[in-house]
Amino acid sequence: MSNGSHVAIVGATGAVGTELIQLLEQREFPVRELKLLASPKSAGKVLKFKGEDIRVETLSDSSFKRVDTALFSAGGSTSREYAKFAAGAGAVVIDNSSAFRMEADVPLVVPEINPADIQKHRGIIANPNCTTIIVLMALYPLHLAFRVKRAIASSYQAVSGAGAKAIHELSVQSKSFCSGEPVSPEVFPHPIAFNVLPQVDVFLDGGYTKEEQKFVNESRKIMHHPTFRASITCVRVPVFRAHSVAVHAEFEQPVSIDRARDALKNFEGLELVDDPSSNKYPMPISAAGKDKCQVGRLRVDSAWDNGLAFWVCGDQLLKGAALNAVQIAELLTK
Ligand code: A2P
Repeated sequence: MSNGSHVAIVGATGAVGTELIQLLEQREFPVRELKLLASPKSAGKVLKFKGEDIRVETLSDSSFKRVDTALFSAGGSTSREYAKFAAGAGAVVIDNSSAFRMEADVPLVVPEINPADIQKHRGIIANPNCTTIIVLMALYPLHLAFRVKRAIASSYQAVSGAGAKAIHELSVQSKSFCSGEPVSPEVFPHPIAFNVLPQVDVFLDGGYTKEEQKFVNESRKIMHHPTFRASITCVRVPVFRAHSVAVHAEFEQPVSIDRARDALKNFEGLELVDDPSSNKYPMPISAAGKDKCQVGRLRVDSAWDNGLAFWVCGDQLLKGAALNAVQIAELLTK
């Protein structure tokens, strides 16, 4: 590895970490050296990058010497404990956890929406929540066209959002369920195979979950729209890796389907898949593995004035996490 930057991935063995390694390679990110970090249990494990074997190291305070960019995806507590060592050593941290997202001096960035915000960073840039990114990829172009006031939404979230163990749990439970064997939930509080759980993350006072609250707070920060109001019910479904969200949004200005379609069609990173007459609409199975989020089922909302209803799907591990983080790293190199 010659020119380029020294990149570290914290959580390299996880569901998002694995995607980060692949994306750095596929997108030809200028990597001079790649350091793969995880918990002690993965130390010594060998992962491939551009045909080379890289040995996973145990994350420690001194893991970040000479690192330029540190991509963190090992949960909030790991970020809270170690991001300061990375930033202190001179690296820019791009953090996939919720640890710093709402801090005033931490930009929260979706490159297609608020790329200029990265300039305000002081060592840490936060990657938004996956459901927030996927909804905003469709809501933001509509906001630019008609000025969004509020939204009601329901998510259908893949298990990948809960990590590699959750992906394994859905797989094992599906086989057990089909062969009539008992299932024993470990990652989720109830069986996830052939079930839906109206809970993503922990419950807060007031009855919303933390995931639901993140959506409201993060959307306001990313869109620079402090008066945006939203109510979402986040639901875990037995899907492996793409999230779907049904959104009903009310706008300040009168809406038109033609203008909405144009706004969606022309937005970078978004694909309009909307041909009900031939049963064409986004589905997790068609969004999985794709960089672009997909939007469809677009219609004038019958429940309120100036309303639009739509359905958006996006790969949670890609645009919802790893791809967005790598896009931020790319912006930093420009
Ligand atoms: P490990 O595989 O060694 O446990 P996922 O989101 O798929 O569950 O992955 C979480 C990632 O975060 C894994 O790479 C995991 O490493 C890593 N991780 C979890 N806890 C720590 C920790 N305390 N220190 C370093 N890495 C951690």
